[in-house]
Amino acid sequence: MTVIITAGAIVMGTTACKNNEQKEVVESPVSGIRKSSWGQADGQPVDLYTLTNSKGTIVKITNYGGIITSFVTRDKNDSASSIVIGFDSIAQYLQSPPYFGAIIGRYGNRIGGGKFSIGDQSYTLARNNGENHLHGGVKGFDKVIWTAGPVVDSIAALSLSYLSKDGEEGYPGNLQVTVKYTLTDNDELKIEYDATTDKPTPVNLTNHSYFNLTGDVQSTILDHQLQIDANGYTPVDSGLIPTGEIRAVAGTPFDFTSSHTIGSRIDSVEGGYDHNWVLNSKGASMQKVATLNDPVSGRYVEVFTTEPGLQFYSGNFLDGKFINHTGTAVKLRTALCLETQHFPDSPNKKDFPSTILEPGQKYHSETIYKVGRNRETGKQGNSE
Ligand code: GLA
Repeated sequence: MTVIITAGAIVMGTTACKNNEQKEVVESPVSGIRKSSWGQADGQPVDLYTLTNSKGTIVKITNYGGIITSFVTRDKNDSASSIVIGFDSIAQYLQSPPYFGAIIGRYGNRIGGGKFSIGDQSYTLARNNGENHLHGGVKGFDKVIWTAGPVVDSIAALSLSYLSKDGEEGYPGNLQVTVKYTLTDNDELKIEYDATTDKPTPVNLTNHSYFNLTGDVQSTILDHQLQIDANGYTPVDSGLIPTGEIRAVAGTPFDFTSSHTIGSRIDSVEGGYDHNWVLNSKGASMQKVATLNDPVSGRYVEVFTTEPGLQFYSGNFLDGKFINHTGTAVKLRTALCLETQHFPDSPNKKDFPSTILEPGQKYHSETIYKVGRNRETGKQGNSE
């Protein structure tokens, strides 16, 4: 056993994992942040930031893509492991995994036909998903190097900024973006997104973490239980572009107004869940909109957001090509995403809430993933 004394925490390590990765368990944790070099991307150095809170929860984030590489929490038996998919080195992130843990922008989700108009001006975007534009294009915010702000050892917060230039991936305007991650002592991972522009442009920022609350991807997420506070969802066409309709979830497999096991109705949804839920909160204020619960590990995650929509994606395209930091292949439906957002294809849907940011306006959005655990299997909402 090794004892590593860091700026933010006293970390005791044991080598318990298959790939000899050090599984970190924090004894006497102290909130803070630690920076370490993490190799290179695009010929530039990148770093890994380790945020620790007083409960011993650990979140690791790299300034490449603003990616959350690891989110270590304890289960009901006090065993610590990461509840998100991630890798231990930058090399795997450079092989274009499907957005594991990354910041997504300028536009999270799809824009139909890769085009839209603002006033009389029409724009053509990179088409990187059939004929559609997905998650900001060929080189979206998930693949750029962000500039980290100054860090204070004793504060578990990381501010990342990026200037997306006029014309990048086809978007108009210079967009200055800041994303701030904060890990609170209340076990909340808070993400604040801010942006300004010098020309009208669509903006829809999110994070693409894939959760498996068991702490491994040996098992699927089909036994996880999900509740979403949404009475409606946006049905899609074969290219996953919303038709424009907002349909009631009542009486359908999309009704998660009360908690349901994900696998119980997934087979009646063609291709699985990959849809936008229209949240009852309407994005009016910061509200709890969803709870994901794993009865086996006792872990749960509560999602709070200021956004009007939530994309629940059940990992339908995961194919085993990538190996998680536990040494296990990430196969079909072994992880799921809960992406807070405005609705897909909003620039082409006049009845959806607008995603156009104008010069002089300030884009601001917040999302919190709050982790907890139940000592007693099957119950939820019993935060410690
Ligand atoms: C999003 C989309 C999915 C898929 C994944 C990445 O969540 O909604 O259709 O493209 O990203 O694989």
